[in-house]
Amino acid sequence: MTSILAIAFGSMAYFKPGDPQLHEAFALTERIAALLGPSEQIREFFPILQKILPSSRAEFVDVRKTMVKFYGGLLERFKKEKVTDECFVNEILAKGSLTDLQIISFASLFIGAGSETTASTLEWMIALLANHPEIQTRVYEEIKNNVGLERLPNHEDGNIDIINFSTYISTLY
Ligand code: HEM
Repeated sequence: MTSILAIAFGSMAYFKPGDPQLHEAFALTERIAALLGPSEQIREFFPILQKILPSSRAEFVDVRKTMVKFYGGLLERFKKEKVTDECFVNEILAKGSLTDLQIISFASLFIGAGSETTASTLEWMIALLANHPEIQTRVYEEIKNNVGLERLPNHEDGNIDIINFSTYISTLY
């Protein structure tokens, strides 16, 4: 969550653990995820259910209001503080083709979509590596040989074998 907030809003959103704004972002994401969960998806697959099951419209409207207030607040602060970092919001503002509401909606969408998904994937990866030390050693060797231990990997390292980590894992199950 902290990483993706910073990708969107730059250094203005380098929140520390325990920061109330960070927890507001967590709570909002969890609320949206709960609202868009299986019951909402079943309703979309079987529209007849929309007539039978109670409507969540009021909750959707309220979540949207909270989302616009929270991310709108961040955007307003971003503009006021004239943040100059290379980040999503600056790139979008420079192009000047989206309204504030569109920027807010995009930021909220990809912060929501990109935080819990990535966090749980990484948690699983760490759990699997801890349970398969022989693979952990291969991954470590690959990072050491192709990236080195002095920097983090980046997109230019995409052609190394590490990309096949999921293939190693899938051979075990
Ligand atoms: C391991 C990490 C991720 C997983 C497992 C994942 C999984 C998914 C899945 C399954 C969908 C399709 C949902 C559906 O159509 O019902 C989806 C859509 C989407 N994801 Fe991810 N995602 C991940 C990371 C990210 C990240 C990092 C971002 C943004 C920075 C992101 C942004 C989106 C967006 C915007 C959509 C909606 C696309 C659309 O409207 O068609 N996701 N993701």
